[in-house]
Amino acid sequence: MAHFEKANSLNEWLDQRLGVNTLQRVLAKEYWIPKDINFLWAMGMVLAITFGILLISGIFLLMYYQPNVDLAFDSVNYTIMQEVGFGWMWRHVHAVAASVVFLIIYIHMFTGIYYGSYKKGRELIWISGMLLFVAFSAEAFSGYMLPWGQMSYWAGMVITNLFSMGSLEFNGLVEWIRGDYVPAQAFLDRFFMLHVLLIPVAIMALIGLHFGALRLPHVNNQNGEEIDFEEEAAKYKSGNKAASKVIAFANDFMSKDMFVVAVYLVFFFYLVFWNFEFAMDPVNFDPANGLVTPAHIYPEWYFLWSYEILRPFDKNIGLIAFAFAQVIFILLPFLDRSPNTVPANRRGLFKYWFWAMLLDMIVLTAMGKLPPQGIFSTIGYVAALVFIGLWLILPIITKLEKKL
Ligand code: HEM
Repeated sequence: MAHFEKANSLNEWLDQRLGVNTLQRVLAKEYWIPKDINFLWAMGMVLAITFGILLISGIFLLMYYQPNVDLAFDSVNYTIMQEVGFGWMWRHVHAVAASVVFLIIYIHMFTGIYYGSYKKGRELIWISGMLLFVAFSAEAFSGYMLPWGQMSYWAGMVITNLFSMGSLEFNGLVEWIRGDYVPAQAFLDRFFMLHVLLIPVAIMALIGLHFGALRLPHVNNQNGEEIDFEEEAAKYKSGNKAASKVIAFANDFMSKDMFVVAVYLVFFFYLVFWNFEFAMDPVNFDPANGLVTPAHIYPEWYFLWSYEILRPFDKNIGLIAFAFAQVIFILLPFLDRSPNTVPANRRGLFKYWFWAMLLDMIVLTAMGKLPPQGIFSTIGYVAALVFIGLWLILPIITKLEKKL
């Protein structure tokens, strides 16, 4: 047992036992952020806050939701939406946050791609980020099953069918995942468990890893400048803050982060109270019915681009293309062969690659929502080929890039 002096404050008492001051110094007061960044670097904080909103609103919904195929639809659409005070508000908060979180994730991802923030030293930040993307996708999909409406049922059917692996016909695997021949009680039970327990816990662990992976390389900056953090921090600590290229995370940078978060929350609550419809599919206001297939089955907007990569090809090729689209982003740090960590506009052919990829994913998203007929299916097909082609040429064009 170590020797303990009488503490003169709660902070001192906690510091002696938990080292709270050391933690605060390492994680906040002496965690250095470059000055040369813009509002796009606040998206990580916006994501963390949105995840918090999803957790809190989810806990309120959980108090009345019934994971039972006979009760689930009414527990959401009747009990929560009409009977429980402010139940409608928590549902709209949860649904809007679930949709908007993907918009912010895509902005955060493309910021990382544009500024090369996945390169040497920052690979683990990128990989943990992509694992978060996968975990959020699974969280959104499992949550979509819970109201047990028509789209829940049929999206559940279509997505679990993918595990039959096309002509390999692994139907036993599909049944194992469903716990039945078709989506039914066992299916709802396990997706409920995944949505409220296992995936949120995994997300929290991954956020911990993501933040941990940021601590030593530090965040990138607008010019990809390699900063000597020790030297710049010494200037800051000696009081020469103007000459230093960095500021402390707490409280300097956090106050800027919070300004962006505040603007975002105005936009967020505007959506919650005045424009929540976009986050809810009208087809899902019909209870699940295994005997009536909806005319068009499509996923939420944030999955449309990968859905459109699956759809235009025949069964097996489509499945391979879809699997390719799911994993390829994670390999970005290894497929980009250029040593330059600079914004895309200062890089050779990568500049065009970046904008082509962004535009192509927007086209894929738009086509994914439309029925696969006539010109739309041709555009979707070409856009899917362009997506695959862009990834195949990435190592070549980045290898050709001159060292800056
Ligand atoms: C809920 C999910 C996520 C949270 C809470 C989160 C949080 C953060 C935070 C706080 C930062 C530091 C500040 C900033 O650059 O914004 C950051 C940086 C970063 N994140 Fe995420 N992130 C998430 C998802 C992702 C995803 C899906 C990716 C894509 C692969 C990603 C890739 C990165 C990269 C590359 C950086 C480094 C940026 C730089 O060095 O400039 N993150 N993240």
